Order: sequence, then structure tokens, then C-alpha cells
Amino acid sequence: MKSLWSETLRAFFMSGRKSQMNKTHYFDVVDSTNNKAKELAAQGAEHGTVVWAKQQTSGRGRLGKQWKSVKGKGLFMSIVLRPRVAREELAKITLVIGLAVSEVLDTITGVKVQLKWPNDVLIEDKKCCGILVESSSVNAEEIYAVAGIGINVNHSECDFLGELEGNATSLAIVCGKDKNLEKVMELVRDSVLQKSKLFEQGEFPALLAQWRKRDCLAGKLMQCVDCRGKIVQGIALGPDENGILHVRDEEGREYEVMSGDVRLAIADGSDERLQ
Ligand code: BTN
Repeated sequence: MKSLWSETLRAFFMSGRKSQMNKTHYFDVVDSTNNKAKELAAQGAEHGTVVWAKQQTSGRGRLGKQWKSVKGKGLFMSIVLRPRVAREELAKITLVIGLAVSEVLDTITGVKVQLKWPNDVLIEDKKCCGILVESSSVNAEEIYAVAGIGINVNHSECDFLGELEGNATSLAIVCGKDKNLEKVMELVRDSVLQKSKLFEQGEFPALLAQWRKRDCLAGKLMQCVDCRGKIVQGIALGPDENGILHVRDEEGREYEVMSGDVRLAIADGSDERLQ
């Protein structure tokens, strides 16, 4: 006869979410890991399912941009997230994911990694990782997000061409040696799932406080488009408790920035892209 103790333990483990085993899908080449992850999510893939690849043929970034792929050098991964939070809370998860990735990249590089609102990850002022979160409704109550994460892992300077030249970096450049893509994927996956759990537990204020310590725009003069479509130049005040960026112009008016291309403004009136 089974003891009450073993039954209790079994019930405890069965009630939690399943382990990461068998939930990671690897592809040599894929159009976009976000597309694959969305397909799987639509078929019911559980929270924490990961799709990762060594190459993407149609990788996409925010604002309709392309996310280029140099085979075997970049890490392209997407995680299906089904956080148990209210629908209106979900937008905050983009900051949570950025924080999760930045902590992993800190550990790998030994450098304090910065975040640029809403979700670029920078090392020594150069972009090392971009995040694209896409969400879909299953029904009125249920919603899921696919967190797409692209990390420059084993790129050399010469892999960054065009607008990336001088503006992007990789873990190998910072560390002086190549890194194992699968290891990086596992660390990022575990960190994202751990932070997502804290988010579900109502810890967003604490996560946001950590995020703000890495904010590379805070206190800087920047240019952006506010939520009414107006171009605003002002000092970045950082994201508020809803994840919305605030900017104060020289007349002291405060604006909310929902999304979009945020640029650092420089003294001569022109602007400089950070990414
Ligand atoms: C950005 O900085 O604009 C976001 C880039 C996000 C790229 C990643 S790579 C993995 C996933 N699949 C995609 O097609 N995009 C994201």
C-alpha cells in the first residue's frame, strides 16, 4: 500500500507544470522559429515549449524589419508562454523576457548587460540580442505569447554589414571565444521560464526595478513617437508600472510611448540609431 507521504509527493509533482524534457524542437533551418512556435501553440503546445534553429530564412524583427541569419553563428529561439495572468497584463511580459535574457548574458560575458526599451539587449552599447513577442487569443479567456529571441552568439565583426556595422556585437566578440549554441539556448529558456513564473506570482514590480537598473536610455535625450502618433523629443524617464515608456520634453510635458523605434537624439538636431 502506498504511503500518504508518497501520494502527497506524487500529487505535488503532478500538479506542477511538466519538466522541459521533450518540449524542445530543434531545426537546422526554418523560416522563422516564431512561425513554428505559433503553429505548435495553436495545436496546444504547452507552456515552455521551445523551437530553436541554427538558421532562419525569413526571420523577422520588430516593426516589420528583417532579422538576418548567419548560419550556425546566431541563436534563434522561440518559447511558447501561457502565463496565468489577466489578458491586459500580458504586454508587460516583453520587459520580463528582456530581463531574463540580460541576466544570462551577464553570466556568460561577465559584463553588465543593458536593456533598451522595449526589448533590445545591448552589450557595451551594441545590440547583441533582439526580442519579438507575438501573442494570440485561443478564446476570450485564454491567450498565449510566443517569445522570439535572436542572439548574436558566434559572429565576428565582419558578419555585421550595412546598418549593423559598428552597432552590433556578439558573445564571441565580447568573450574572445565561441560559445555553444545549445548551452546558451538552455540557459535562456530556463531563465525566461523562471522569470515568467515570478511574473505570474505578481512580482512584476520587483522585476521592473531590476529592469530599470539596466535601462540604457534613462536620463538621456531621445526622440520617439508618442501613443497619439506625435514625434516627441525629451528625456527618457523609463518604463512605468505598466511597462509604458515615459518621456519629458523641455517644457516639462510628459508623454507615454507605447512602442516603436526609440532613438537617442544628439545635440545637432539629427538623431542616432542605437540598433
Ligand atoms: C528585433 O530586435 O527587432 C527583434 C528580433 C527578434 C528575432 C528573433 S530570432 C528568433 C525569432 N524568430 C523570428 O523570426 N524572430 C525572432
